[in-house]
Amino acid sequence: MKIFVANWKMQLTLAQQIEYCEKHLEEIKAWKHKIILCPSFPALVTIGRRLHKTDVALGAQSCSDHPHGPYTGQVSASSLAQAGCSYVLVGHSEERALGVTDDVIAKKALRVLEAGLIPIVCIGETLEQKKHGATREVLEYQLQPIHEVVKKAPFYIAYEPVWAIGSGQTPTPKELEEILAWLKHTNPNAGLLYGGSVTPETIETLSQLPFLHGFLVGGASTDFQQFKKIVSLVA
Ligand code: PGA
Repeated sequence: MKIFVANWKMQLTLAQQIEYCEKHLEEIKAWKHKIILCPSFPALVTIGRRLHKTDVALGAQSCSDHPHGPYTGQVSASSLAQAGCSYVLVGHSEERALGVTDDVIAKKALRVLEAGLIPIVCIGETLEQKKHGATREVLEYQLQPIHEVVKKAPFYIAYEPVWAIGSGQTPTPKELEEILAWLKHTNPNAGLLYGGSVTPETIETLSQLPFLHGFLVGGASTDFQQFKKIVSLVA
């Protein structure tokens, strides 16, 4: 069984997210893989109620690095737990692009663990960094503060090269295999996910890779037929 995390980002309105669940949840419930839906904040409570007592899990796309307090616009991990979340994405490259640092991302992961939830820590290099042969160095840099907070707790690492997100491009199987083997070796308590242009076209090759527990699917997960196709193509 693999894990498929549907990261809807800000692609769908509240009404569209609820409609997606109303129309497709029964079918999703019957899939043989583990599905984690990550809607936007306003949809969490309503969708969380629908997912309650099903095997389909709820995830949030981010959280505050503070437990509570005067932080206008932020959402605490403990509120996410009360909304029914079991997972929280932290450090997505779209969040990092806004200037959120590795240390703040590690604090978010800590808040997630304190709330009894599982962090899915996103890491990945830019095209520029890849061209300079700095991929491992960048990933190491991103993971180091995470190791300090996570210690021995179970968590997920989603390896998402920034240049692969929404571009239709993916690393070669050889490149991915090397990175995944290294991540597995250096993060024995982490489950490994891959994200970045996971589509019906790329999933067959990606699903042959060793060490992977699953996939983080962005754009293609917002279209139910595409998402269904991706999930159905994995044994
Ligand atoms: P994508 O996005 O599947 O649209 O490339 C993945 C992500 O950003 O998590």
